[in-house]
Amino acid sequence: MPDPPEHLKELYHWDRTNHWHAFTQMAEYEPLVIEQADGVWMVDSHGRRLLDGASSMWCNVHGHNHPAINSAIEGQLHRVAHVTTLGMTSDTTVKLAKRLVDIVPTGLEHVFFSSDGSSANEVALKAAFQYWLQCDDPQPQKTRYLTFGQAYHGDTLGAASVGGIGKFHDLFQPLLFEVVRMPSPDSRRLPPGLAGEAAVRYFLDEVEEVLKEQADTLAAIVIEPMVQGAAGMVMQPPGFVRGLRELATRYDVLLIVDEVATGFGRTGSMFVCDAEGISPDFMTLGKGLTSGYLPMAATITTKKIWETFLGDSESGRALYHGHTFSGNPICAAAALASIDLFEEEQTLEKLPPKIERLGERLATLAEHPHVAHARQRGMIVAMDLVQDKQTGEPFPTKARVGQRVAEIALDHGVWLRPRANMTYAIPPLAISLEEIDLLMDAMTAGVQQATAAAQT
Ligand SMILES: Cc1ncc(COP(=O)(O)O)c(C=O)c1O
Repeated sequence: MPDPPEHLKELYHWDRTNHWHAFTQMAEYEPLVIEQADGVWMVDSHGRRLLDGASSMWCNVHGHNHPAINSAIEGQLHRVAHVTTLGMTSDTTVKLAKRLVDIVPTGLEHVFFSSDGSSANEVALKAAFQYWLQCDDPQPQKTRYLTFGQAYHGDTLGAASVGGIGKFHDLFQPLLFEVVRMPSPDSRRLPPGLAGEAAVRYFLDEVEEVLKEQADTLAAIVIEPMVQGAAGMVMQPPGFVRGLRELATRYDVLLIVDEVATGFGRTGSMFVCDAEGISPDFMTLGKGLTSGYLPMAATITTKKIWETFLGDSESGRALYHGHTFSGNPICAAAALASIDLFEEEQTLEKLPPKIERLGERLATLAEHPHVAHARQRGMIVAMDLVQDKQTGEPFPTKARVGQRVAEIALDHGVWLRPRANMTYAIPPLAISLEEIDLLMDAMTAGVQQATAAAQT
């Protein structure tokens, strides 16, 4: 990379010093500044075109700078930019609530808006807790949550409590509440020979053992369905979430399904809940809700739960939770336009060949001697990078193999989110077959070169 021109030197200095980046060790941070983006492509301050291989943190759906979403945002901007949802609202926000109810699984009818996935999960956790105090047969002892392994539900303290990623959450342990944590249902840790239905049964039996003992004190089960993203794209066998729904009902525990990352087509269907044929007690959405354009999230629940929150103003039954920008009309306009685009551009209908192409390219990479557990769910592909394929021994952390893959991919014009000892891609759904090839070419080069270098 050549030395940046003077104006960029100043910008980069501000970026290193005044701008504190999320999840970033600022002492090591090298500026990557995007000045323009169109479709799946971003252009950085050096004029490099970079394919957005991680959908700007798993949220871009229809591509950057989409004229329909831009125009919806502009149209709303000239009507009303913001009004609160505390006791009032905008017409656009109401329309979005209704539209969401129309597309989410049957039974989910009441939408609470917030601005990010973490908050959407906080709302679900608090509402589930409050439900057990207010339902017809109150059970105030139901105060705990069942969560899975290295779950990630966000960084606010409630969401972090039900999360389990040591690197992010351990430090804050004294601030977090206790949960019942189970190993993740992870196709990689099955006893040899178990697959399909048997694999699903194996993981569900583990859950049932815990429910038998502890359902009495559990308010809810919280799960990232099908794919635990931040854990490293840990994938569950299809059918697990369906079985979990059955268990939650049988043991009278609420089910919170966090579709913040999986929602809006990522795994091939609009929601994982659709593919699994279930309806949870709470579904949380974020990221792709506005096609990744603006911060908006939603917690959607059932009539049964909603009704327990109704009463007169003295009853104390209202959900005392809210955010200043909850339900912001500009965000709502972007979300409505994005949902329209799913129909107009036949976004889901166009996915099968893309999923197939990703799968073919992944299958080739899976043959590589340092690639293990190549895995895919819809538009998400991931693999572990191992020193020894037979034993699964990882590369030493200091070899920074996953990070090197991302650096090499960047040199090949593709932005991948760096991860230690693994790599993944989750491109915008709007990506073309040719662009998938460019993405997977860059990832392949990254894997080949980074693992070769780590060997020497
Ligand atoms: C499954 C899941 N839930 C919640 C969140 C948190 O969302 P946000 O970053 O918008 O707070 C994320 C973010 O990556 C996520 O992947």
